[in-house]
Amino acid sequence: MMLEVSHLAVDHGKLRALWDVNLKVAEGQRVGLVGANGAGKSTTLGAIAGLYPAAGGTMAYSGKQFTHHRAPDALARGIVLVPEGRRLFSEMTVRENLRMGAYAGRTRGAVAEGLEQVFALFPILRDKQAQPSGELSGGQQQMVAIGRALMSQPRLLLLDEPFIGVAPILVDEIMAALATIAASGVTMVLVDQNISRALRFVERATVIQNGRTVLEGDSATLMTDEKFATTFMGLD
Ligand SMILES: Nc1ncnc2c1ncn2[C@@H]1O[C@H](COP(=O)(O)OP(=O)(O)O)[C@@H](O)[C@H]1O
Ligand SMILES: [Mg+2]
Repeated sequence: MMLEVSHLAVDHGKLRALWDVNLKVAEGQRVGLVGANGAGKSTTLGAIAGLYPAAGGTMAYSGKQFTHHRAPDALARGIVLVPEGRRLFSEMTVRENLRMGAYAGRTRGAVAEGLEQVFALFPILRDKQAQPSGELSGGQQQMVAIGRALMSQPRLLLLDEPFIGVAPILVDEIMAALATIAASGVTMVLVDQNISRALRFVERATVIQNGRTVLEGDSATLMTDEKFATTFMGLD
């Protein structure tokens, strides 16, 4: 397994947000992390990306166990988070935002090559590269956030609600781009409150409720599972 989260517990201050989250991701896989608002999806991604320490349980990445790694170390090992709400610098241009994803010390040539990859994936960003990112539509800003993550050369890409505030036509375009990224060998964890949409993209999914993993399986099985359908599919 590339990533194995076992019985993870995480606290936000004095409040426990996660109690018992389990998540397994094989190299090259696309895995969904689904559940209602407040279930603990962002907290789980944050712990994997090094933003929060584990208060219990363990995580292992590429065979190496950790309960807390610093975010820069996680990044250096290829764990890259596309955060909820995109977190762009809205006054800065698209190009400047994309460059934020490039490691310090990367050569100019490598940065230029990274930008070319992003523009090939999202051609609209080439035209808008000199514009402040705040002037872009929600979907285009999401493309910038994904592009910035690609500039960090991810091995494991963690996507937190990438379709929120994105027009339906751009959702399909972004999903197609994510499929291209996955086909290039990048492993992905996709968080989406819209479970049926997530299941169209991922191969496996883990369902969390109130900080606990309650169900786990491959997408095809989950989609036809009656209990799953009646309990979770209506939440969309
Ligand atoms: N920074 C924080 N400080 C305190 N509580 C938080 C913080 N972030 C999230 N929480 C709480 O932790 C729980 C899980 O939140 P979160 O991981 O954001 O859920 P989800 O992403 O599934 O909506 C919620 O009860 C939420 O209110
Ligand atoms: Mg969230």
